Amino acid sequence: PGQPLADTLGRPLRDLRISVTDRCNFRCSYCMPKQVFDKHHRFLPHADLLSFEEITRLAGVFTGLGVEKLRITGGEPLLRRGLDRLIAMLAALRTPDGRPLDLTLTTNGSALARQAAALKAAGLNRLTVSLDGLDDAVFQRMNDVGFPVADVLDGIRAAQAVGLGPIKVNMVVQRGVNDDQILPMARHFRRSGVVLRFIEFMDVGSTNGWRMDQVLPSAEVQRRIAAEFPLTPLSASAPGETAERWAYADGGGEVGFISSVTQAFCGDCNRARLSTEGRLYTCLFAHRGHDLRALLRGTAPVSDEQLAGAIAGVWAGRDDRYSQLRGTAAAVAEPRVEMHYIGG
Ligand code: GTP
Ligand code: 5AD
Ligand code: SF4
Ligand code: SF4
Repeated sequence: PGQPLADTLGRPLRDLRISVTDRCNFRCSYCMPKQVFDKHHRFLPHADLLSFEEITRLAGVFTGLGVEKLRITGGEPLLRRGLDRLIAMLAALRTPDGRPLDLTLTTNGSALARQAAALKAAGLNRLTVSLDGLDDAVFQRMNDVGFPVADVLDGIRAAQAVGLGPIKVNMVVQRGVNDDQILPMARHFRRSGVVLRFIEFMDVGSTNGWRMDQVLPSAEVQRRIAAEFPLTPLSASAPGETAERWAYADGGGEVGFISSVTQAFCGDCNRARLSTEGRLYTCLFAHRGHDLRALLRGTAPVSDEQLAGAIAGVWAGRDDRYSQLRGTAAAVAEPRVEMHYIGG
């Protein structure tokens, strides 16, 4: 009822990304560099995390405001104990007109072989696995904990076997670090039913030492692939999509390019992020969030209507478009939130 919710740039709220833990068993240099996230780093104590009940209640309120897609992230979400119980709770949510939500998850795949069946049974619709290369030396240098490629591939196979599809694989490309893996990855995932997507290395957070010269523009990635496998453009499947979609001309499936640096997609960004401890962030590059947990746990009980009012107020005031402003004077240089804490 009433006006549909839109931010100051006319963008609706459709996608909620929920971080369920700030922990990860990998130390990808572009996300949680080992030197920073070492044994002295203090992760959030359990009491600070939103409970499954709190997450589900908030997700229900977001659904009432237009959210149709939920993505569970982290850190590494499969490290959160009993995650399948949360999946089952979220799978029971419906849009105001009675449709189920698109319920998905981003994982590094390390625990997927063990958990795929339980996630499927709990009602997860689909899945995205992060994988930055097929060569063990390259991949282990990137995850920085010696985790083998084969175990991630096993996880992907297990997820396919239980019918958790369509599966996407996200590869962050860093020039000079793993760009030699672009073609091996493309060859491997062609004709596999998995959609491979290449992501430009981004300046998220303030610890990953980002430099523009390490960004390999998607146009170059695409050129390298097209030199071996001709590509034809596909139209966007949903408004506000992150990836530009292309098909192998020979019917070998689809690939995607996520070009946040060279072709910002803030124009129709409909994504909100809920941090592990219940703060609402309206941009991946935000400096601070809005504390929803304080409302949930306040001394006076809060109604769903009051929560909806608070969230709608934040969204209505949203003017974020960091990737469009990157490098200009308008992009203030305050410390940004770390990605492992609000989820990719
Ligand atoms: P699908 O519905 O499966 O297409 O998911 P998605 O592309 O919305 O989400 P996914 O988590 O797979 O996003 C892939 C990557 O794109 C993330 O890991 C980020 O690197 C990047 N990304 C996602 N959302 C945003 C965003 O809002 N802004 C920017 N700059 N990058 C984003
Ligand atoms: N640049 C681009 N993508 C990143 N991710 C994490 N850090 C970065 C970064 N600096 C994304 C990766 C990973 C997901 C969890 O977050 O895609 O797959
Ligand atoms: Fe962990 Fe994913 Fe960050 Fe790598 S990118 S450290 S797997 S949360
Ligand atoms: Fe959305 Fe911020 Fe990413 Fe732009 S930079 S697409 S506004 S999350």
